[in-house]
Amino acid sequence: MKKVFVKSYGCQMNVYDAERMADVLATEGYSETKAMEEADLVILNTCHIREKAAEKVYSELGRVRELKQEREALGQETRIIVAGCVAQAEGKEILRRAPAVDVVVGPQNYHRLPDLLKKSRAERVVDTEFPIEDKFDHLPVPSKAKTRSRGISAFLTIQEGCDKFCTFCVVPYTRGAEVSRPVARILDEAVRLAEAGVRELTLIGQNVNAYHGEGPDGKTWSLGRLLRRLAEIEGIARLRYMTSHPRDMDDELIAAHGDLPALMPYLHLPVQSGSDRILDAMNRKHTGDEYRRLIERIRQVRPNLALSSDFIVGFPGETDADFEETMRLVADVGFASSFSFKYSPRPGTPAAEIEDQIPEAVKVERLARLQNLLETQRQAFNHGTVGQTLDVLLEKPGRHPGQMAGKSPYLQPVQFESDAHHIGEIVTVRIVRAGSNSLFGEWVKAGDRVAA
Ligand code: 5AD
Ligand code: SF4
Repeated sequence: MKKVFVKSYGCQMNVYDAERMADVLATEGYSETKAMEEADLVILNTCHIREKAAEKVYSELGRVRELKQEREALGQETRIIVAGCVAQAEGKEILRRAPAVDVVVGPQNYHRLPDLLKKSRAERVVDTEFPIEDKFDHLPVPSKAKTRSRGISAFLTIQEGCDKFCTFCVVPYTRGAEVSRPVARILDEAVRLAEAGVRELTLIGQNVNAYHGEGPDGKTWSLGRLLRRLAEIEGIARLRYMTSHPRDMDDELIAAHGDLPALMPYLHLPVQSGSDRILDAMNRKHTGDEYRRLIERIRQVRPNLALSSDFIVGFPGETDADFEETMRLVADVGFASSFSFKYSPRPGTPAAEIEDQIPEAVKVERLARLQNLLETQRQAFNHGTVGQTLDVLLEKPGRHPGQMAGKSPYLQPVQFESDAHHIGEIVTVRIVRAGSNSLFGEWVKAGDRVAA
């Protein structure tokens, strides 16, 4: 049997797409391997969001090329595919810079992989068109066993692309306009996942709360409405969604946070900056105070809500005073976890053209200060759970024999002693200690049911 190795960079959508690519290639007789050395086909599923992420692809391609030569010496063939957002953005340029690459395929075209692989025997190919057909209509359904082997928690793409055009971001160009999948297709996929034993669904999309899919009633459904329906699916105990834009938190979605116990009290809602001037230059279309008020509204219906966010420091024109506004917003809101980045100019985006770019040394210093504060908040949040009882969804055996490991509603890894519990159960655990990344607890009450 031929073997395929997929390496994904960047966001959850790439993790999801990597699985779908593996499903497509399974129909061609490829099985997945975790060892690149034994792969007949290597796929790099790339990310273009920051310069560093994009450059990684070329250094990795250098390594894959060496591997290809080593395998060639042993009489084994290695074919190489570049997929994802760098493929979409750079297309032919990749063939020029990396002569070992056989196929370049964009995120909307990977259902055509078998065909592209065949064609590339004659000539190296690039497929980055936005096709008329929907790739989801052409993707094979993996077996229950395959789905289950991917874990108790699954990603489900409900929308792709973004129409927001934040001035720093390449996504509207690489992933295109916002497209929502129809409700019925999402429900089919969710039911299939649940039947295979999946207990937690994370709905994903580049701007997932802009979701506006066609409902079975012919009406347009919002994310709030979709979540309500998904919460009814037998076996699905936990729902999450990411990544969201503050402007798309509508009343129906906020209400869902109050009404749906399955919707976890943990929200990733990027704010990027706390300065109104910078938010405006970023084209975020909201102020720092509007973000604060929004969080208050969601906390009114879900008091135990914890937050996570993305931040950019050193956006063009960001002054010391602007940066202090970001620090102030972080101090006001409080985040359980966060991602923060130095601004990275991306070709083709408006912010890259702004004259007033910030020196690297300033970005480094601001990032360090911000990350310090965010890390303090993360630790404080984790320590704050000590003494609480939390529901833990069991994912795997723990580090030591007799232990189980799972996740809290806030995605914190939790370990506890157990010899009677099963993967897929939700168990109530009293947290007794917080380490730097994991929580440690004691079992309190039996699980809700054995799912696996
Ligand atoms: N530079 C730095 N960070 C960026 N992000 C998006 N574009 C850029 C950029 N040009 C960050 C944002 C976004 C996250 C996915 O990546 O914070 O929310
Ligand atoms: Fe990029 Fe997100 Fe802004 Fe869309 S909403 S342009 S994906 S940062």
